[in-house]
Amino acid sequence: MTFLVTGATGNIGSLVTHRLIKDGHRPRVFVRDAARARALFGDAVDMHVGDLARPGPALRKALAGSDGVFLLNSGPRLAGRDRVVVQAAADAGVKHMVKLSTLDVRTGVGTGPWHARGEDAVRQSGLPYTFIQSAAFMSNVLGWAESIATEGVLRSSTGQGRIAFIHPDDLADVITHALTTGEHIGESLVVTGPEALSYAEMAARIGAVIGKEVRYEELSDEEAHEAALAYGGGRQYADALVDIWRAVRDGRLTTVSDGVERILGRKPLPFDRWLHQNAEAFQ
Ligand SMILES: NC(=O)c1ccc[n+]([C@@H]2O[C@H](COP(=O)([O-])OP(=O)(O)OC[C@H]3O[C@@H](n4cnc5c(N)ncnc54)[C@H](OP(=O)(O)O)[C@@H]3O)[C@@H](O)[C@H]2O)c1
Repeated sequence: MTFLVTGATGNIGSLVTHRLIKDGHRPRVFVRDAARARALFGDAVDMHVGDLARPGPALRKALAGSDGVFLLNSGPRLAGRDRVVVQAAADAGVKHMVKLSTLDVRTGVGTGPWHARGEDAVRQSGLPYTFIQSAAFMSNVLGWAESIATEGVLRSSTGQGRIAFIHPDDLADVITHALTTGEHIGESLVVTGPEALSYAEMAARIGAVIGKEVRYEELSDEEAHEAALAYGGGRQYADALVDIWRAVRDGRLTTVSDGVERILGRKPLPFDRWLHQNAEAFQ
């Protein structure tokens, strides 16, 4: 079996690529930055260099002979890029497309509508697919690392609302399992972490791990929007983030699913595990 990974230089795609290599595969990666991919994977992958926003022969070549594709696209225009990839994949005879989507397609919150349009493009292509409808990632907490390290504060507009962040390792295991076994074709897999926590509870847990008090301070939506714009990614992305945080505050994103356990046969990894692995970032 030959697998193609898009987004391989990113957070989740790199974890998936490493898992495929560890499982004895030689994955193909479709990347913009060859040097970055070489630094991550050495000579263990077949490299295809191109841009999903301007695909051409490089994408067709990467897809030719690929059995399964991991599709990762982000940003407000992701659905257009999903459509281009799945059409080219269908033409190339790809047998299975695993798309990283979001749990928020079910609520229409934040980036949900972008991914819903991407899922539609995949469905319309007729390609066998698996959608991974993921909760927010524990690694998002790194966005608060600087204020925690320098001021001992986590600020957000999420009030007392809770959300069950997923460990990136769980997500990568689920994606790799879906891709390599083909056991979940035609399914939308909802995956979350094991427990929904408020941001104040997360702040307290971070404090316990780094041995210093971490306070939670509430922001207004306007203040949160300003902070989101400063992350980069543009206005639409900032709008989407504030929408997600508002939905958390309103108690609309509290889903805890049994997806990870059902798919992998083991419990999802707890937030404390991720914290111990990443404590340095907050010190
Ligand atoms: N964060 C969350 O809580 C959350 C929750 C649910 C779903 N999601 C979804 O997860 C995805 C983000 O995953 P991630 O955290 O792994 O992302 P990431 O770390 O930002 O990585 C994005 C990857 O996509 C590549 N890429 C971006 N634009 C590209 C283009 N035009 N052509 C080719 N490659 C391109 C990047 O390559 P370069 O290295 O060249 O930039 C990078 O490898 C999004 O679809 C998001 O909606 C996120």
